[in-house]
Amino acid sequence: MTEVAESQEESELIAYVVCGLNDIPSRRARGFHLVIVDENGEEKPLPIIIVRWGKQVFGYLNICPHDGVNLDWERNQFLDSNGLRLMCGKHGATFEIGTGACVDGPCLGNGLTPVALKVIDDDICILGVTLAEETESEEETPDS
Ligand code: FES
Repeated sequence: MTEVAESQEESELIAYVVCGLNDIPSRRARGFHLVIVDENGEEKPLPIIIVRWGKQVFGYLNICPHDGVNLDWERNQFLDSNGLRLMCGKHGATFEIGTGACVDGPCLGNGLTPVALKVIDDDICILGVTLAEETESEEETPDS
């Protein structure tokens, strides 16, 4: 995992490269199983979804607010049939890509938990967490 120096105004934050911007086609989503180090120094899994929309990226925990499961019941299948919303494969809840808010399904009124991302030098980086140094991100096969 590569650390990237942040800009001056966010110099206290360390950004970790998750993948290249071009590793995710526009209007597609991809899952990553990261490992973070918590405030007690213990390693914890951090499953995340990254959606790319042009040059924008949106990140959420890959945990459905309805039942706590991963959204992709088929690997990296995160989007609905129109490709316009994130969808949970278990009961079909759908979520706005830009906000993570549930707009249909059993967790209406709740939402996905956002993950802070930033594109730095054509890399998609995660902010606000400490990744386990020795652990590579476990990338899953991109959808196609
Ligand atoms: S577990 Fe996701 S909609 Fe029920």
